[in-house]
Amino acid sequence: MTLEVQPFETALGAEVSGVDLAQDLDAETFSEIEQAYNEHSVLLFRNQSIDEAQHLSFSRRFGQLEVHVLDQYLHPQHPEILIVSNVMDGERHVGIYDAGRYWHTDLSYMTVPSRGSLLYAIEVPHDEDGEPLGDTLFASTSAAYDALSEGMRSHIADLKAEFSLANRHAKLVADGDEGAELSDAHQEKAPPVVHRIVRTHPVTGRKSIYVNEGQTAGILGLPDNEARDLLTELCAHCTKPEFIYRHKWRVGDLLMWDNIPTQHLAICDYELPQRRYLHRTTLRGTPPQ
Ligand code: OGA
Ligand code: MN
Repeated sequence: MTLEVQPFETALGAEVSGVDLAQDLDAETFSEIEQAYNEHSVLLFRNQSIDEAQHLSFSRRFGQLEVHVLDQYLHPQHPEILIVSNVMDGERHVGIYDAGRYWHTDLSYMTVPSRGSLLYAIEVPHDEDGEPLGDTLFASTSAAYDALSEGMRSHIADLKAEFSLANRHAKLVADGDEGAELSDAHQEKAPPVVHRIVRTHPVTGRKSIYVNEGQTAGILGLPDNEARDLLTELCAHCTKPEFIYRHKWRVGDLLMWDNIPTQHLAICDYELPQRRYLHRTTLRGTPPQ
């Protein structure tokens, strides 16, 4: 098998073929994958068949893994796997069912946000014609940064924003999600944090816009209405169609993304008895720059 990287015709993303993630990859193959990851931000590996241990060992090649703060959704045998699913066990959600209802990047509400996530599709919902439902959209926030005017770039260069899990929770509640849970313990583990809104990628050196609809509570040092308007403007800019790749899931897809120069959104257009069930590992990041 020879590894091939086929970039998508979108601002980000590439499909990697000729690789079986159930096997131990040699150093050269892994290094090509890592390079493609840094270059394209989203990588798709189709037709994979991996168990939890294989998912974990491939993920660990990229560095240390996170155990998610929402611990009620962790895989019972493998806490470094987060279950993303709408499936119920009686009254209980077996996984996080509204993981991506708003544009976000994973763990932006932590002091050290996640570097990346690897999501593996085990069950995918579909419509009567067999077309997949529950797509995930990815936006390139580095392409969005590059497209800003000089004036806007210098305006935001030194600004910082506040991020919180509570912000996302408040939005879910405001949108009528009665099942949304956020315990005091979770809030204590993840109090609000502050990050620069222009990030520099530690590997590529590319700049990107780091604010998102779901988890950014406000911009510091500006009057409230100005902060709100700027946040709305930047979030709308990042998610313009020209910066987006839309992923249509198939069973056996392993999709991995870089949380620094991207944000993503889950399309919730399916419901039980249509089942959606995925396993996610989360790569630990480094302090944002
Ligand atoms: C995630 C996430 C989106 C989806 O797992 O981080 O946002 O479509 N998932 O499941
Ligand atoms: Mn996510």
